[in-house]
Amino acid sequence: MKPQKEIWMDGKLVPWDDAKIHVLTHGLHYGMAIFEGIRAFKTPSGTAIFRLPEHIERLMNSAKIYRMNLGFSAKEIAQACVDLVRNNPAEECYLRPIAYTGYGEMGLNPLTSKISVAIASWEWGAYLGDASKKGVRATITNWVRIDSRAMPVQAKCAANYANSALAKMQAVAAGYDEAILLNVNGMVAEGPGENIFRVKDGILSTPPASSGILRGITRDTVIQFARDEKITFYRNDATKEELYTSDEVFFSGTAAGIARVSEIDGRQIGDNGTPITDRLAKLYEQTIHGKVRRYSKWLTPVSP
Ligand SMILES: Cc1ncc(COP(=O)(O)O)c(C=O)c1O
Repeated sequence: MKPQKEIWMDGKLVPWDDAKIHVLTHGLHYGMAIFEGIRAFKTPSGTAIFRLPEHIERLMNSAKIYRMNLGFSAKEIAQACVDLVRNNPAEECYLRPIAYTGYGEMGLNPLTSKISVAIASWEWGAYLGDASKKGVRATITNWVRIDSRAMPVQAKCAANYANSALAKMQAVAAGYDEAILLNVNGMVAEGPGENIFRVKDGILSTPPASSGILRGITRDTVIQFARDEKITFYRNDATKEELYTSDEVFFSGTAAGIARVSEIDGRQIGDNGTPITDRLAKLYEQTIHGKVRRYSKWLTPVSP
């Protein structure tokens, strides 16, 4: 990781190397940290943050679900993201706002902990690296996606990512790039940090929120593209057989972008071409770089 100049901590910009916390920070022990993953891109009119209000809204919702009082409004956190990107040298970056139960009290009642808020940014290439270009080789993991009766899946909480990490490790250890998780009903849910879409006979579909997924902002972007591009689209459950026999499959996420899947458990996907994925991926690239006027509303410029 290439250090940036500063990290925002509890309202102040702190030099990168000084942004440290105590080993007895409550959230480190009990997973009580809610966060976001946001990206800023270079556009013809300077660096801009993609869908910032939507990410901050999801952060505020995660905080509400976990009864965390952040002590900062959505507007203040959004402004802090803008200030941070403007102050740091990277022209394109990933942003990580995080709120966590801080140092002071231990034990299983987080309500006695003070909440700390930080925002870091750094340069981060496509999350799935080269696989995003070549096509992602995925496997269906036997770790089941956490169920909303056990944990609130719509809250982007650090604790949820133990489930994601187990799935990811299993996939990587078996020689794959990425995992696909099924839900407790055996239906397709999502990747460890991405939503999933499939195309069959020209129809685009993705699992509904009720399948236990995180409602991704990139997923919403793709859904809006489909509507505007007049691509037939449904939110519906899929079995793993339906995934294996899809014409096209892709992941969507802030970290991964739109990443074509080329293989699932040894079954080739998209070997007759991936026209809908390619079209959506191109539109996404143009949109995040400020080249599509219709979607410029999704970009928050960081220069005044
Ligand atoms: C579990 C999970 N699903 C899906 C996504 C994709 O969400 P987004 O498109 O908002 O980045 C993410 C990333 O935040 C995630 O962690």
